[in-house]
Amino acid sequence: MDIFAPCFAYHEPALVKAAGIYPYFHTLSASEGPVVTIEGRRVVMLGSNNYLSLTHHPDVLRAAHEAIDRYGTSCTGSRFLNGNLDLHETLETELAEFTGKEAALIFSSGFLANLGAVGLLGTGSDVTLFSADENHASLIDGARMARCRRARIYHDIDDLARQLAHQPAWPNALVVTDGVFSMTGRVANLKAIVDLKKQYGFRLYLDDAHGFGVLGPNGRGTAASQGVSQDIDVAFGTFSKAFASVGGFLAGEAPVIDYMRHKVRTLIFSAALPPSCAAAALAALRLMKRDGALFDELRSKVEFFRQGVNAIGYHTLNSTTPIVPLFVGSETMAFKMCREALEMGIFTTPAIYPAVPMGHALIRTSVMRGHTHDHLQTALDVLAELKKRYPVPDVDPDTLPVAAEMDFAQYLQSQP
Ligand SMILES: Cc1ncc(COP(=O)(O)O)c(C=O)c1O
Repeated sequence: MDIFAPCFAYHEPALVKAAGIYPYFHTLSASEGPVVTIEGRRVVMLGSNNYLSLTHHPDVLRAAHEAIDRYGTSCTGSRFLNGNLDLHETLETELAEFTGKEAALIFSSGFLANLGAVGLLGTGSDVTLFSADENHASLIDGARMARCRRARIYHDIDDLARQLAHQPAWPNALVVTDGVFSMTGRVANLKAIVDLKKQYGFRLYLDDAHGFGVLGPNGRGTAASQGVSQDIDVAFGTFSKAFASVGGFLAGEAPVIDYMRHKVRTLIFSAALPPSCAAAALAALRLMKRDGALFDELRSKVEFFRQGVNAIGYHTLNSTTPIVPLFVGSETMAFKMCREALEMGIFTTPAIYPAVPMGHALIRTSVMRGHTHDHLQTALDVLAELKKRYPVPDVDPDTLPVAAEMDFAQYLQSQP
């Protein structure tokens, strides 16, 4: 059989497009941050990770322009051999200070950082890697690359405690978790994980893509917000969210970072972070450090929106972060609602299996600092209208069973 046969037999996207509810790869022709242009219309962007709205901040724009003037558009090679800039090193020094760690290491994407670092640190036939079930794909793939024993942590700290209790100490274990889970906005109980770490002696790797720049004093992250930064062995962050750029970083003890600087293949064999991206991330970082009001503004917008959504009657999975998930259940319903929201001027994204359990589809909304109250009120009006049109279950999703299959197949078959 032709190994490309699955490609030629893959028709789902075409069917979903024909049904008029395809929600992916929307073409944006302009962006002002909180408002974007799609299909020739300006719509409120309620599906981005631009939490602090720094993508259009004058300091960040200026820094990116100046970096292009000074270094050009690309490093055209890996940092290891020929693309290491003073700008990269300055960013690393300031990130180490920001995270309270001895050293930091930047990558050209967060996915590459997680893939390479978890793949390297977790490797060993005597290593056990405990990974939270809601973890980001880059951690899951890193764990797959690490040829080790893998164990899944189901949803809460009790499950980790139960699994660890099988032996008295775990010096060969790495626990890997997101700080803020990216679909549900749920915050990991790092304090409890650190208590277990003290008892069992494992190493702790934290992906705080959605926590850095959002939670903790001046955005110092989920661990800082729970007072446990010093107990995180490796902290990961991305520049593709609050840092208004692209790229990723790791922070930890100097020998650990130095080891990774020379061993992680996704760093050594991949081109360096472009100068404009490094400069934008550095400018964003400096803004975070000096302007605490950014976080107050974000918090007040999030509070306004969350209260509005709860008042309409959506279940928001008790999220306390700018990620406000709306539980819908049916995948088809989530797609239809996102399509109709877009027609009414609001950009949202559906989250379906495997990002969430089957039959537990969400509409993922996220608030940014630059949203005005008018933007958010418009979004609430649209969501209230959708709640009238669709039978959205107002129950705790944890009480609902996981479905055996997605409900698309039936829906698509019913289409003319
Ligand atoms: C939790 C989490 N980790 C890692 C990543 C990967 O980051 P990047 O966009 O820098 O590749 C993301 C981005 O989607 C994420 O949400």
